[in-house]
Amino acid sequence: MEDAERDDGPPDSGLPAPDKPGAFVMGRRNCLELVDPFSDALVLGDANLTFSLVLAEHRKSLCHVGRTVATTFEKLETLKERYPEIEDTIKKLEEMEAEVLHNVDCTRLAVDPRFKGMEGKFGAVYYNFPHAGVIQGFFDPTGTPTCGGGTPT
Ligand SMILES: C[S@@+](CC[C@H](N)C(=O)[O-])C[C@H]1O[C@@H](n2cnc3c(N)ncnc32)[C@H](O)[C@@H]1O
Repeated sequence: MEDAERDDGPPDSGLPAPDKPGAFVMGRRNCLELVDPFSDALVLGDANLTFSLVLAEHRKSLCHVGRTVATTFEKLETLKERYPEIEDTIKKLEEMEAEVLHNVDCTRLAVDPRFKGMEGKFGAVYYNFPHAGVIQGFFDPTGTPTCGGGTPT
């Protein structure tokens, strides 16, 4: 099979990937790129943090310098009960310089001291499969996320 046709799976963090096929290397640039490489990305309401992990790996493979801020609504104790692998996932995220925060309510970002001074820092804000009830509280009346900006994704 030609290199260009081979599917090597998701990008890994090996840079600059000289041993990968050219189509793989160039394909990383053609990925649906929603996050400004220099901006931080915020993930809200993640459950087992695997989405955040894939996002952080993807950004690392693209040499993004912006950080990934991964958050869960639940406290760590709850996550440990639900997801036996959660500590391993958190370790991997932190090894990639991602920030992991728990007990984050997406409707209260503007008054959460951990987000003080973060207004305008987020290039993209992700909340996959949100609870419908929280969406109204997540946006201010102008339609801007209450964390002060970022493209809701
Ligand atoms: C349907 S689950 C989706 C989980 C995850 N985003 C995914 O795609 O697998 C909805 C998530 O929203 C979280 N959640 C509920 N209320 C929230 C709030 N006010 N702020 C942030 N997350 C919230 C829940 O804890 C739950 O993990």
